[in-house]
Amino acid sequence: MAEVRFIQRHSLLTRIVHCTVAVSCVWLMISGLFVFVPAIAAANPDLTRFMKITHRVVGVVFICMPIIGIIGSPKGVAEFFKKYFKKWTPEDVEFMKKFVPYMLMPKKVHMPDQDEVKSGQRIADGMLVISGLMMAISGLALWLGGSVAHASAETLAVMRFIHDLFFLLMVIFVVAHAFLGGGVFQPYRGGTVKLMFGNGQVSEANALYHWGFWAREELEEGAKIVVRTVPDEDRKRISSKASLGVAATTTGVAAVAAKADEAVRNAVDEAQADPKE
Ligand code: HEM
Repeated sequence: MAEVRFIQRHSLLTRIVHCTVAVSCVWLMISGLFVFVPAIAAANPDLTRFMKITHRVVGVVFICMPIIGIIGSPKGVAEFFKKYFKKWTPEDVEFMKKFVPYMLMPKKVHMPDQDEVKSGQRIADGMLVISGLMMAISGLALWLGGSVAHASAETLAVMRFIHDLFFLLMVIFVVAHAFLGGGVFQPYRGGTVKLMFGNGQVSEANALYHWGFWAREELEEGAKIVVRTVPDEDRKRISSKASLGVAATTTGVAAVAAKADEAVRNAVDEAQADPKE
């Protein structure tokens, strides 16, 4: 048996909100096809009636769940915006430039260290949040404007256009997000899906590999570190990136790297210190 360090990346509340939103979003996309594509509706009248009802019920869940998350953890919302609205660093730009070659040849392309959320991830997740918001607003307007509020035909047409437009954007970004987040292929294979659909923890090696700046901060701070005892054969798999052709990053190596960082910081502090003191 061996001890392996993990970092708690997402809280239980975040995971519950994300999981419910993800499942309801996929259901809304499927049921939406029955509501908005006349050919599908005409070919399946009974199923369409069922899908129309679920589109509204699941729509309410899709809207309410993030609101529950906001009420449950206002601090978490502030942190969310802080990590997404960060000024881009040269590493962020380099990451974007190398992204396509990296996807095609993850063993050969070496990515720079990243903050808690990678630059490309900030754009993609941001698009998901904006699209979800626009879908929610236009969906509510179509529902209530057509029944309770008696909105004009022009208003409903505009809302329908917005709903269709953001549906298309949502399909593109949800497919890309699920492809990467689901961790089906390298370089994201091996645990990414557990970040939202599991215990929310990332191994030290994976954290250092994907989000180097953030991982080193967390390892130094220690508040989110979880030490788990795992069988020896699992430790090798968890703490190695050998499958990517990247040098293995074990707890020991990370500790040495942290020490080296500290030594550099001390040397800089000393160099900057007033020699008279
Ligand atoms: C359908 C399958 C989906 C999968 C497999 C999936 C997977 C993931 C994973 C693994 C993460 C964590 C990434 C990280 O820690 O860096 C994540 C984060 C996120 N996902 Fe998804 N997701 C899915 C659907 C969705 C949908 C439908 C939305 C929105 C409409 C969404 C919005 C987000 C957002 C905003 C985050 C960032 C949360 C944060 O950092 O606090 N996801 N997703």
